[in-house]
Amino acid sequence: MRKKIGVIVSGRGSNLQSIIDHIAEGKLDVDVAVVVSDHKDAFALERAAKAGIPAAVVERKGCRDKEEFEDKIDAALRNAGAELVVLAGFMRILTGHFISRWEHKIVNIHPALLPSFKGLDAQGQAVDYGVKVAGCTVHFVDEGTDTGPIILQKVVPVMDDDTEETLAERILVEEHKALPEAIRLWSEGRLSIKGRKVYIAR
Ligand code: GAR
Repeated sequence: MRKKIGVIVSGRGSNLQSIIDHIAEGKLDVDVAVVVSDHKDAFALERAAKAGIPAAVVERKGCRDKEEFEDKIDAALRNAGAELVVLAGFMRILTGHFISRWEHKIVNIHPALLPSFKGLDAQGQAVDYGVKVAGCTVHFVDEGTDTGPIILQKVVPVMDDDTEETLAERILVEEHKALPEAIRLWSEGRLSIKGRKVYIAR
């Protein structure tokens, strides 16, 4: 039985596209059961439609409070039978209300080598700091912001003339490999978490 994942997005959806492409090419053996977007105009929704994936739009402004917003996202994922939640460019912070129901079942892609440069504009933070290497991190989500156990990371060089945009572009190429790879490891039952550490069975 192929495992089912739900993908939560906010915008462009290039990481969603990478997941879709890996599945289509037979490199990732899961089904995307639903895409949930917190923006009705997100380009990611067009990508989902093109791939024939059901989608749900849950906008914060249409909800009474954060709990209702998270309850609606939770319902969309459960109704679709999702077993893993993938945050692929989802630009909101989920609270314990949601996260406690999906313990060790939410993964996020972050465009920095955590624990450096958490939060927004990670690539700009890296350029401003003057680091010589940057990259991306796929991690399980806990109740902190970008603090959960790390599954894998990929590294890129930072060039002297990099801008936030050029660095983001270089990191994105690695994101498109890292996220499907982490999902594949999960789908193969090869990830185990002990404390802060994720162990990958060979
Ligand atoms: C990606 O770079 C992702 O790592 C980042 O947003 C971009 C979404 O691109 N996520 C975060 O910064 C989360 N804090 P995409 O919509 O094309 O996948």
